[in-house]
Amino acid sequence: MGTFTKILAASICVAFLAVRWTRPSFDPESLRGARVLVTGASTGIGEQMAYHYARFGAQIVITARREKVLQQVAEKCLSLGAQKALYIAADMASESEPDKVVDFALEKLGGLDYLVLNHIGPSPFSPWEGDVEHVKWLMKVNFFSYIQMAWKAMASLEQSKGSLVIVSSLLGKMPSPFVAPYTSTKFALNGFFGALYHELAMKKSNVSVSICTLGLIDTDSAMDKVRGVTNVPAYPATDAALNIIITGTTREPELFYPWFTHTVSLSKDWFPSVTSYILQNSYNYIP
Ligand SMILES: NC(=O)c1ccc[n+]([C@@H]2O[C@H](COP(=O)([O-])OP(=O)(O)OC[C@H]3O[C@@H](n4cnc5c(N)ncnc54)[C@H](OP(=O)(O)O)[C@@H]3O)[C@@H](O)[C@H]2O)c1
Ligand SMILES: *[C@@H]1O[C@H](CO)[C@@H](O)[C@H](O)[C@H]1NC(C)=O
Repeated sequence: MGTFTKILAASICVAFLAVRWTRPSFDPESLRGARVLVTGASTGIGEQMAYHYARFGAQIVITARREKVLQQVAEKCLSLGAQKALYIAADMASESEPDKVVDFALEKLGGLDYLVLNHIGPSPFSPWEGDVEHVKWLMKVNFFSYIQMAWKAMASLEQSKGSLVIVSSLLGKMPSPFVAPYTSTKFALNGFFGALYHELAMKKSNVSVSICTLGLIDTDSAMDKVRGVTNVPAYPATDAALNIIITGTTREPELFYPWFTHTVSLSKDWFPSVTSYILQNSYNYIP
């Protein structure tokens, strides 16, 4: 082995160990009996998070609109080892239902250790053509309900030294064509919870905030939209779900999953014209 190769190998090892040491270690046992509320848990990443929390022996409340599906997910959670698995159907576009869901979880579980905000309303993959009402509606579902639920749960999270986990997207860091309404709701989340993160840290709050930036994940709803349109690789929902849970449990402020979403979000600031060129030429979508 040449000297250069040795030095390179050694620096890679040092960098790897530095990352391992600075990343807090995940103790699955700490989730046994933890009181968790997961939104958007009837399908997709939310459903997978419910199953992971169940395997770790947590007490779970899940929510989404479809009661029948929630019931099936809750049953599976119990069979996987959840100490409790309750569900409540709710529409997050409503003014009152987000509060109702948090109250239900607080009452049934006697408090909360994790509030995992994950739901999104359906939004088309298409050019913006003036549907303002859709954006207003999507903002209610994807954004306003998040801040409402976070506020409603805050006192309990303070008491339990709990965690607030926000599932966001690379599209909350980098605007991309054909998803203007969705992208704007994710930017709103990153802005709001980014500010709240600082405020809580400055007042030495007991509550941690984790904002999760995800790339393309292989859920049915996402794959239906991008099939044939882009060849960006999709990552498994179950792995995304586990990474989100670990990030919340270890109280890390940010997750980038897969890792290159971090590089992509930096590159759009460092090399804006290259990034725009790639973005504008990477879709097989002719409006
Ligand atoms: N999949 C991806 O490629 C990807 C990429 C980046 C970020 N993310 C983020 O990851 C999270 C989960 O994504 P996903 O792909 O798993 O989504 P999904 O499969 O479409 O699931 C969305 C969930 O939200 C619920 N929901 C929809 N409208 C609702 C409403 N009005 N009120 C209450 N619940 C509602 C749905 O259940 P009901 O229909 O039963 O209500 C479902 O449980 C989202 O925050 C998304 O932005 C996903
Ligand atoms: C933070 O946690 C400590 C110890 O559990 C508790 O005494 C304190 O009241 C909590 N702070 C707030 C603001 O609830």
